[in-house]
Amino acid sequence: MILLLGGSGYVGEAFQKQLSRRGIIFASIARRDCDYTQPETLRELIRKTKPHFLINSAGYTGKPNVDGCELDKENCLLGNAVLPGVIARVCAEEKLVWGHVSSGCIYTGERPDGSGFREEDLPNFSFRTNNCSFYSGTKAMGEELLGGYPDCYIWRLRMPFNEIDGPRNYITKLMRYDKIVEFTNSLSHLDEFVNACWETWERRVPFGIYNVVNPGPVTTKGVVEQMIKAGVSNKNFQFFKDEAEFMKVAAKAPRSNCVLDASKLLKCGIKMSDGYEAVERALKIWV
Ligand SMILES: NC(=O)c1ccc[n+]([C@@H]2O[C@H](COP(=O)([O-])OP(=O)(O)OC[C@H]3O[C@@H](n4cnc5c(N)ncnc54)[C@H](OP(=O)(O)O)[C@@H]3O)[C@@H](O)[C@H]2O)c1
Repeated sequence: MILLLGGSGYVGEAFQKQLSRRGIIFASIARRDCDYTQPETLRELIRKTKPHFLINSAGYTGKPNVDGCELDKENCLLGNAVLPGVIARVCAEEKLVWGHVSSGCIYTGERPDGSGFREEDLPNFSFRTNNCSFYSGTKAMGEELLGGYPDCYIWRLRMPFNEIDGPRNYITKLMRYDKIVEFTNSLSHLDEFVNACWETWERRVPFGIYNVVNPGPVTTKGVVEQMIKAGVSNKNFQFFKDEAEFMKVAAKAPRSNCVLDASKLLKCGIKMSDGYEAVERALKIWV
């Protein structure tokens, strides 16, 4: 039996679908029914349900985007830093292994040689480097807190998307913003992401951090061209001149745009499709 925390969210729902598709028995726990953010409640839940693995897809993202986190710092800190710490301690005490949904947004840019950040690279977009959004800072804190716990997967998700139009989908976001900005980024196809996360556990690959992104970064312009070619949008996309203009006009908090290296996952035999290929596939069956 698998315990799923945060199952009501965008990522959590994708986990629910994935587990159902695989015929795996799981319990998706909602905070309103059982407040798993409280250590004693979580401990009781684990003792009662006796899961053999726990997935934490709960966290605070800010709506409609990370700027929302600047206005609700308390919940952001609770969801992204305190909660993983609570889960880690209780799981260690109850000898329960687990996986945590983290984010690639703890980096900015790429490595000095132009390659993507690897799992062992220290975050360069965090409170420690004093250049980040509140959201990214709390996600980096969450990972730092888990550093001392060896029986846990940390799955880094990055700008999720799939074929379903919706406010959390990266492709939809590009379509709906009045003006967009050119960046290079790694992305995660949401369904490939949850599949790969599950595979890390199913194959019992070593615990630790994994960049769960589609290999091959994409550019904003590249994705926009794909959207037009696929006939999903005929909008005349307007671009900000540069990041400085975007920050001045459209953003409250600094944004993470970064490339992550996906080879650790691949070395474990878990393959995700190329970034542009995954976007193309989603656009082909867009709903
Ligand atoms: N979406 C993205 O673009 C993205 C990108 C990279 C990483 N991530 C990470 O993926 C995880 C899930 O994100 P999501 O997009 O699925 O978020 P979401 O749709 O907003 O769902 C959040 C989930 O977390 C639960 N939760 C528990 N404690 C919370 C708290 N203090 N504040 C807010 N929610 C809390 C919510 O439960 P209730 O139903 O009880 O409110 C809900 O099930 C987060 O850790 C996030 O940082 C997301």
